[in-house]
Amino acid sequence: MHEFTVTPYRVEGDVDYDRLLDQFGANALTDEQLASFPQPPHPLLRRGVFYAGRDVERFTSAASAGETVSIVTGRGPSGPMHLGHVLPFYFAKWLQAETGAYVYVPLSDDEKYFSKNLDFDEIHEHTRENLRDLVAVGFDPERTRFVVDTADADVVYPLAAEFAADITPATVAATYGDPPNVGLGFYPAVQTTHLLLPQLLHGRHPTLVPIAVDQDPHIRVCRDIAGKQRYDVEKPGALLSKFLPRLGGGGGKMSSSGDDPSIYLTDDRETVREKVSKHAFSGGRSDVDEHRERGGDPEVDVAYQLLFSFFEDDDETVERLAREYRAGELLSGEMKAHAADRIADFLEAHQSRRPEGPIGEVVEPYRLTDTERARLRPQVFD
Ligand code: TRP
Repeated sequence: MHEFTVTPYRVEGDVDYDRLLDQFGANALTDEQLASFPQPPHPLLRRGVFYAGRDVERFTSAASAGETVSIVTGRGPSGPMHLGHVLPFYFAKWLQAETGAYVYVPLSDDEKYFSKNLDFDEIHEHTRENLRDLVAVGFDPERTRFVVDTADADVVYPLAAEFAADITPATVAATYGDPPNVGLGFYPAVQTTHLLLPQLLHGRHPTLVPIAVDQDPHIRVCRDIAGKQRYDVEKPGALLSKFLPRLGGGGGKMSSSGDDPSIYLTDDRETVREKVSKHAFSGGRSDVDEHRERGGDPEVDVAYQLLFSFFEDDDETVERLAREYRAGELLSGEMKAHAADRIADFLEAHQSRRPEGPIGEVVEPYRLTDTERARLRPQVFD
């Protein structure tokens, strides 16, 4: 049996996604749950990238009844964003457009300070750049809030303090392993705050958290707290995804720290072509004659997997690519060229919406308003 580790702070080995659900106690998505989302379903649902969840139907049934619903999905600003980072946000944007959901996007700069070897100046710079990418996604500013832990601490800290009193060191150790410093030991109370913010502002309602499966431990801690009588909130639901494959293949997640490069949101077409053609693990045969004769394996071909996961929207086209690849009609280089083109199309559209200019102005429409702040904050001096 192969070994793997998945925590919010470490993903290693060839992840067995089904065994992970047993470990975490989450459930594979059922056909019924899939059908309960707005139709036609987003490619990330249709292609099984989002593959598991918790209490998904609380969200989908309230959404289809036109009731208040919200989505929380965040970002740890420890570096420039790559393709894997941005997909949950595009998914959230789709779901917002379909359901009118509020979207809350917390940026956990404190968490990254506690867990990475970066100073706050560096993290704040990443935060500003990541915010530009989040604006580029195209959320509805009326119904979307970006919250930065240290910059919006007037709202975040008092709530986190309240929840922190309900989280024991034993829970933290059992959920994440021993924290390397007290900052990370406290942080689960902060992410709990993120996941409950929409309900604290807009009253009790179903929240869905679409996120990569490594973040599920944070959701579990929050659900424990939300279950306590004295808070008038319901447990947030979770929609959990597999990782976008790394270019080098092998089952880990696309990551900025591995050997093969990631594709960044700022990469131009030429860079994408080069990264894919040089580094994408190929399911093709070692030479063209053998490939023509015996065919390739799309299941392990990273270029195909990227197309399948998200970048080729058309179902018939993905099926045709897989079929022609297996039959040896389509060569590895051709699959890579197709993937690079689709990815570059996506990135060019993203980049054309990415705002320049002073970050305060760019983000203003998405910040908590004074009224919202006043509602969430303790009124010590008022
Ligand atoms: N912890 C997440 C990460 O490291 C970022 C994050 C902060 C988040 N708050 C969140 C993700 C709320 C989902 C929901 O990537």
